[in-house]
Amino acid sequence: MSTASQAEDEQVKLWNGAAGRAWVETRDVLEAMFRPLEELLVRAVSDAGARDVLDIGCGTGATTFAVARALGPQGHCTGIDISAPMITAARARAEREGRPASFVCADAQTYPFAPASFDMIISRLGVMFFADPVQAFANLRRAARPGAALRLVVWRSAAENPFMTTAERAAKPLLPDLPARRPDGPGQFGFADRARVARILEDSGWGAIAIEPVDIALSFPATELTRYVGRLGPVGVMLQGMEEPRRTQVIETVRGAFARYVHGTEICFSAACWVVAARSPAETAHG
Ligand SMILES: C[S@@+](CC[C@H](N)C(=O)[O-])C[C@H]1O[C@@H](n2cnc3c(N)ncnc32)[C@H](O)[C@@H]1O
Repeated sequence: MSTASQAEDEQVKLWNGAAGRAWVETRDVLEAMFRPLEELLVRAVSDAGARDVLDIGCGTGATTFAVARALGPQGHCTGIDISAPMITAARARAEREGRPASFVCADAQTYPFAPASFDMIISRLGVMFFADPVQAFANLRRAARPGAALRLVVWRSAAENPFMTTAERAAKPLLPDLPARRPDGPGQFGFADRARVARILEDSGWGAIAIEPVDIALSFPATELTRYVGRLGPVGVMLQGMEEPRRTQVIETVRGAFARYVHGTEICFSAACWVVAARSPAETAHG
């Protein structure tokens, strides 16, 4: 198996297994925690006057629904995600709440979108996992209408986001098999290198590329910390298959490491992200 298809296979397994399950089980916490990033994208959609919007790596659909609400009956937001459990949760919510959004369960890197069908493509933290990002963004460019806007929020480096690696630093002595982060490979910090992101977009045919840093305050209730560390991130994924009493021992060790983020009843941290903007060429060669 080639390195690219191995990476793709790993992501499919992860998001349809432990990581996907964790995001579904903690969607209430994550939805509230990431709302400021969602608001940033909703504002961008409104400012662009977009009507047909595609949300990449939409997960359980929080941003997709927020954009659909902002578009109103004149517009439509479609979410695409590779994770069956997350898309199932998004579709169930759409049905329950009568939300005007639709969802596709597929790999956005290769999904045969109708050409030139979206006037804006967005993503909240959902584009760093492609095995071949140039192929993925070329595919998305073909799905975009000429002149369509692209707006992404992605993480900057792990070093600039110490909150996100607190659990693994604390757990490492107890979990020597914890997988190491791969800076430029598919994964949470895969788009940390600004020059690499610009190259990916240029090589896939996007223009007017602008990549700006944003630092956004995020928080969630301190009562949710155990649920957060017990399910999410590389440590949370490992904990899902762990027996007691080892599991409790790891959780207690990890919880202690978050002390500096506890402010009263909230866990507070800063998200160091890039906001990536680009445009599909006015005359797209749909090849
Ligand atoms: C960090 S989560 C973000 C979810 C959502 N955007 C949010 O903010 O709640 C990343 C998402 O990207 C999805 N994903 C990963 N690789 C993908 C691919 N090749 N095509 C579509 N979705 C993908 C995952 O299944 C996961 O739902």
